[in-house]
Amino acid sequence: MSDLNAATSGTFRIGGELEINRLGFGAMRITGKGIWGEPADRKEAIRTLKRVPELGINFIDTADSYGPDVSEELIREALHPYGRIVVATKGGLTRIGPDRWIPLGRSEYLIQQAYKSLRRLGVEQIDLWQLHRIDPKVPAAEQFDAIKSLIDAKVIRHAGLSEVSVAQIEEASKYFKVATVQNQYNLVDRKSEAVLEYSEKHGIGFIPWHPLAAGNLARPGSVLDTIAKKHDAAPSQIALAWVLKRSPVMLPIPGTSKVKHLEENLAAVNIVLSDEDFAALDAQGSA
Ligand SMILES: NC(=O)c1ccc[n+]([C@@H]2O[C@H](COP(=O)([O-])OP(=O)(O)OC[C@H]3O[C@@H](n4cnc5c(N)ncnc54)[C@H](OP(=O)(O)O)[C@@H]3O)[C@@H](O)[C@H]2O)c1
Repeated sequence: MSDLNAATSGTFRIGGELEINRLGFGAMRITGKGIWGEPADRKEAIRTLKRVPELGINFIDTADSYGPDVSEELIREALHPYGRIVVATKGGLTRIGPDRWIPLGRSEYLIQQAYKSLRRLGVEQIDLWQLHRIDPKVPAAEQFDAIKSLIDAKVIRHAGLSEVSVAQIEEASKYFKVATVQNQYNLVDRKSEAVLEYSEKHGIGFIPWHPLAAGNLARPGSVLDTIAKKHDAAPSQIALAWVLKRSPVMLPIPGTSKVKHLEENLAAVNIVLSDEDFAALDAQGSA
């Protein structure tokens, strides 16, 4: 194993059976501006994707709406037939232009989108399919029923949710086993602490999106800045190391379109934060 390997971050079993290395890759950034169309540097995006498994990363997060379609298509072009890589995708957000996202939770739409992701990714079954948003205009039961039907039809193996509360996870659990939850979470955005604690208690993988953010804590002279200097690391790497240490069910998916940034982010797995450093960051981040 090279000294830069995602396996150093430890492993987690999605749905209790699908083992992945905890540090994954977010494939939203390999698209154009506004997460729309082709990436500015297509060759570099493909190089980044090809580098992913070489670094021991075997968990990739994408969505039908990234591009739309573009992220899933590039993943297939670069990595099919995937080997031991788990490609998790999402559905339930429509796109009406760059930076514009609208939930659509009608059951026939969710089912259609899962089938289309299956075809685009070129797989017989999607390892993990996540409902990108619960559509408030559609009864939640209709959306959860659609997911159950996708599991029953073996179109998807495991299912997850995104941007949900504990109450919504509990409601969805009446229809299917919730394998993962993907909520915004990082050192300075801790709105989802209760969901993280619930996930830990129930063996649900917690996928924090936007995990690199360190906000004002990255300013010169801050606690984070001091700890980063001590480790000769960038503030974003310390933010990632903190997230990884926060919980064994944490599955961060830092996103980038560049090999250099991918390697920099992965280097966070080699940063060992002391309990004191962790506690100091924790206190500042949740203040
Ligand atoms: N469920 C949801 O609703 C939801 C919402 C948003 C995102 N996500 C998922 O979460 C993943 C991560 O979220 P995110 O992409 O918003 O946030 P992030 O991973 O915290 O940050 C990504 C941004 O930071 C830059 N970056 C990455 N590594 C860097 C480095 N080493 N040095 C300097 N800049 C760096 C990237 O640009 P470069 O390309 O230039 O490196 C990109 O602009 C996404 O890819 C997606 O899969 C899910």
